[in-house]
Amino acid sequence: MWAWWNGEFIDKDAPVIRLEDRGLTFGDGLFEVIRTINGRLLFYDEHMQRMLQSAAFFHLELRPGPEVLRPIALELVARNGVRDGELYLELTRGVDPMRGHRLPPAGTPPTLFMLAQPVRAIDPVNWQQGASVFSFPDLRHGYCEHKTLNLLPNVLAKNFAFDRGGYDALMYREDAAGRYVTEGGSSSYFCVREGAVITPTVENILPGITRRKVIDLARDRGLPVREERLHLDALWQAQEVFLASTVSKVMPVRRVDDRTWPAPGPVTRTLAEAFDERFRRQLFE
Ligand code: PDD
Repeated sequence: MWAWWNGEFIDKDAPVIRLEDRGLTFGDGLFEVIRTINGRLLFYDEHMQRMLQSAAFFHLELRPGPEVLRPIALELVARNGVRDGELYLELTRGVDPMRGHRLPPAGTPPTLFMLAQPVRAIDPVNWQQGASVFSFPDLRHGYCEHKTLNLLPNVLAKNFAFDRGGYDALMYREDAAGRYVTEGGSSSYFCVREGAVITPTVENILPGITRRKVIDLARDRGLPVREERLHLDALWQAQEVFLASTVSKVMPVRRVDDRTWPAPGPVTRTLAEAFDERFRRQLFE
């Protein structure tokens, strides 16, 4: 398998990352996961736009830019023979021998690499009968609107769910009215209440690309959509729950902790089909 690292195609397992890379020592960087279908890239522009915005926010330089990277990404996908897969991009602040917390001198070259591999294995029963998820406190920092490399709390949350046979965590924070849903370890949440599709507002959570597409698809179908703080008390009253991500697409949820729902519910089914249709169309674009 090939990887692409700082301007060249290399053996995926070549030992190229320097130990003093700030991505390793500080988690000082960003990543993206882009779905590849049939050798094409799904929502590439949207993913790269998100990375560019976060790079600007953190004063990281994405070089080369998205238009130069696109054919390179496609070549990597083709070289690895990946059809239904994941393109992983990582951008770090580069090698900093001082390991000082101070930002390295201007002009320090960033590290940029890409991997392309088949999509991770997921038991299809999660789509057919719904996934189980488990609530877990969202213990992260204040920069969760960016896809940073600081994923230890997400890893702990997801493993809390895995240890109980779940697919993902459902992370929550608390305000005066109680616990409210933020997102999964690697997915966005939705519920359906009295015909309306409700998803948490982007307040220190990732603005998911799939989340955005699901909102648009729902509105196209005349479904009312609300972005609002979603307290667990309100979630328990929902008729349907589902999650969404680049890897999970639209996935019904049948269980949150000890509460269960019939899954997939009708609205989830409609949106899952609409998303899959959007997905299939990509094959012919
Ligand atoms: N994760 N929230 C978090 C914390 C995520 O890490 C992800 C994606 C999402 C969904 O975003 P999108 O629809 O843009 O994929 C929400 C990727 C898939 C991952 O870490 O593998």
